[in-house]
Amino acid sequence: MKSIFDPVSIGSITAKNRLIRSATAESYAEGGRRLSGVKTRLYEDLAKGGIGVIITGMFGVDRNSGASPTMPKTGDDVFVPAMREIVDLVHSYDCKLVVQLVHSGAKGFPAEVGGQPVGPSDDTLVPDRPARAMTKAEIADLVESFARAAAKCKEAGADGVQIHGAHGYLISQFLSPHCNKRSDEYGGDIANRGRIVLELLEAMRRETGGDYPIWIKINGKDLVENSITMEECIWLCRELESRGLEAIELSAGLGFGRSTSPSKLIESVDDEGSFAPEALTMAEAVSIPVISVGGFKTPDVMDKWLNKGKIEAIALCRPLISEPKLAKRWQDGDREKARCISCNKCYRLKDGLKCHSFSE
Ligand SMILES: Cc1cc2nc3c(=O)[nH]c(=O)nc-3n(C[C@H](O)[C@H](O)[C@H](O)COP(=O)(O)O)c2cc1C
Repeated sequence: MKSIFDPVSIGSITAKNRLIRSATAESYAEGGRRLSGVKTRLYEDLAKGGIGVIITGMFGVDRNSGASPTMPKTGDDVFVPAMREIVDLVHSYDCKLVVQLVHSGAKGFPAEVGGQPVGPSDDTLVPDRPARAMTKAEIADLVESFARAAAKCKEAGADGVQIHGAHGYLISQFLSPHCNKRSDEYGGDIANRGRIVLELLEAMRRETGGDYPIWIKINGKDLVENSITMEECIWLCRELESRGLEAIELSAGLGFGRSTSPSKLIESVDDEGSFAPEALTMAEAVSIPVISVGGFKTPDVMDKWLNKGKIEAIALCRPLISEPKLAKRWQDGDREKARCISCNKCYRLKDGLKCHSFSE
C-alpha cells in the first residue's frame, strides 16, 4: 500500500514524502525583487510545513516571456544568488526544490516597449493584444533561452527544473491544435506540434550536463474543442522519456476562463483529483513517475488515488496557499481535509500571494 507519507524517488530526486507543492506564481507585481524577503519566507513556511518537494512559481526564460512585464525571470541579476538562498533554506528542512520555467507566448506581456506577444500562430489570447506567429529563428532562440534558464537553476543549486507545458502558455499553445495552426514542421500532427518540446529537452540537457533532473507539467486535455488528446500526450511523453525526461505532472486546461481553468471548484470528495483519471492512464503508459495535480484536499482521497495504480505523487497548489503547513498537520495526526474552498480569489496576485477567504 502506498501512502502520501512514504519516501519516494521522483527520477533522481529523492523526497521524504509523496506530497509536492505544485507551481504557484507568487506575484507579478515586483519582478526580480520579489525573490528576497516575502518570497524567502513563503518558501521557508512551505518547507517547514512538511512538503517533500516544492515546485516554484513560474519563472520567465527571457525578457519577453512574462505573463506580466514584471514577472520574475531567470535572467534577472538577482536570480542566481537569491535562488541559491531559497534553495539552501529549503534544503535545511529536508525539502527539495524544482524551478518551473515558462514562456507565456500569446498570453504574455513582452517587456520590450511596444513588444507584441508571440505564439505558434497569429492569434489573440489576450483581448486587444493580437499575437503574431513566431518565426523559426525565434523558435530556435526560445529553445536556447530554456537551455540557459535551466543552467542558471542548476548554478543556483536547485534540484531540478520543470518545463511549464500546460495551461495555455507558449509550450501548451504549440501542443494544442486549438492554438497551433502552423503549416510548417512545428504544426500539424503531434510529432510536429511536440517538436518544440523535444528540442527544448535536448538543449536543456546539453546545457546542464545531461543528468540534471528535468520534469514537465503538461495537459492531458485542454478543456476546449480541438484539444490535445490523451493519446497524443502519451505519445509525446514517451518520446520525452526516451530522451531523459524524469517526471510528468499531468494537468489540464488552457486557462482562458472558468471552464478551461486547471483550478476546479471542489465541492465534495467525489470532485477531488480533477485530472487523476488521466494521470492514472499516463502512469500506465510510461515508466517515469507521474504526478497528479488538481483538486486534492483529503489525505485519504490522495492515498486512494495513489493505490489505484502507478501515480507516484500528489501535487497541491491552492490548499497550500491557505495552509502552508498542511503536510505537517496531517503527519501530526490531524487528517481533516484542507480548509481551501477553491474560491480562486488567490488568483488575484497583484498584492502578492495570499488566501482571501481565511487568515491565520
Ligand atoms: C494563485 C495561483 C497561481 C498559480 N500559478 C501557477 C504557476 O505558476 N504554474 C503552474 O503550472 N500552475 C500554476 N497554478 C495552477 C496550480 O499549480 C494547479 O495546477 C491548480 O491550481 C490545480 O491544483 P489545486 O487544485 O491543488 O489548486 C496556479 C494556481 C493558482 C491558484
